[in-house]
Amino acid sequence: MKILVTGKGGREHALITALSESPGGHELFAWPGSDAISALAARVDAPDLPGLISWMKTNGIDLCVAGEEAWLVKDGGLANLCEQAGIPCWGPFKEAARLESSKIFAKRFLQRHGIPTAAFTTASTADEARAALTGFPIVLKFDGLAAGKGVAVCAGRAQAEEFIADVLERRVFGPGDLLIEQCLSGPEISIFASVCDGRHQILMPARDYKRIRDNDEGPNTGGMGAVAARALADPALMERIEREIVRPTVDGLQKDGLRYRGFLYFGIMLTPQGPQVLEYNCRFGDPEAEAVLPMLRGDFAAYVDAAARGALNPGLISFAEGWSICIISASAGYPASSRCGDVIRGLDTVSGARVFHCGTRLNPDGLYETNGGRVLAVVAQGATREEARAKAAAESAKITFDGLQRRSDIGLLHFT
Ligand code: AMP
Ligand code: GLY
Repeated sequence: MKILVTGKGGREHALITALSESPGGHELFAWPGSDAISALAARVDAPDLPGLISWMKTNGIDLCVAGEEAWLVKDGGLANLCEQAGIPCWGPFKEAARLESSKIFAKRFLQRHGIPTAAFTTASTADEARAALTGFPIVLKFDGLAAGKGVAVCAGRAQAEEFIADVLERRVFGPGDLLIEQCLSGPEISIFASVCDGRHQILMPARDYKRIRDNDEGPNTGGMGAVAARALADPALMERIEREIVRPTVDGLQKDGLRYRGFLYFGIMLTPQGPQVLEYNCRFGDPEAEAVLPMLRGDFAAYVDAAARGALNPGLISFAEGWSICIISASAGYPASSRCGDVIRGLDTVSGARVFHCGTRLNPDGLYETNGGRVLAVVAQGATREEARAKAAAESAKITFDGLQRRSDIGLLHFT
């Protein structure tokens, strides 16, 4: 099979690695890919989504796998354009991908289908938003894609007023309304499902560490590490999540006529009242994919190919016992900015762990250097959480570059 993956980061490196390890010796392509990914998948040079579609048609691509979310809703939608071109695509149609690109669309969907989520209201003007600040803490969310910066958990009025002014007056994220949400509390869990025309399979659960520094301090990032293990959610909790959240979501998509074939990510908070949905993402998580995919056994390529054609076959894959822990190394300045061009040392000395490249490039001397906020994901497995943690920490410590930022507590599981 000729398989193309869209994206360029650590998640895509992990997806392409899982495809490359599938039986059958498939020919892999990536758009836009990265220097590191090019060791496994040929990079495709297409200027835009329509250009990619015509490249895929000309080159006989059998399957397209969506990594990054942006292309799902842009320029007519990756899955929509693939369908018109007759190419099976693992990634939802743009109408359903609004579950991620519009938080207000997602909240109305949750409400309509009776799925547990925080109470909310919406505002289009700063005055409306200020009038809706009835108590604190309160959560404010910009209704659009904002590279992880569109959510503010506000302890008091001053912080809320500042965020309202940013979003609805200064328009720092561009046009869009504001979602004002009740603040929930409890540990968070990332649940992934493969969703295919009204059927689904729940994959291995994970947790990510969103804050930049140890003990969950500092600003939110795209994720500084992740743990994956079946033990993260006991069977009773998984059964409840399936019954109250995953099944009603999949049924809701069917009822609303929203066609979905792809990974669906449920960001869930385990509140004292039970699990509640914080957000949907229409793709695998990053860095959760880097932790989960090394645990996958079976034929991932055949699984995704069949599901993209409408035949979900859960028996084609399974997940290993034990724990998988992913530690991110980030560049100087992240998350406010990111510094490029710092040479990475120690990559060759990592053994017994996988290294996925999130943001690197080869310099003219043939050495990898930083090229983004999150730079590398080092992932190790173990029978116990401690074993996986010790291995991931020891291996990632072998990697250095100027300005490197890394958490030392990934896998300790103290979640706020
Ligand atoms: P989101 O992008 O909607 O998942 O929000 C990003 C992060 O903000 C989540 O992972 C939570 O840590 C936090 N958050 C979002 N919504 C709420 C809420 N209603 N109550 C408390 N924390 C929240
Ligand atoms: N790890 C969070 C995300 O992928 O959005």
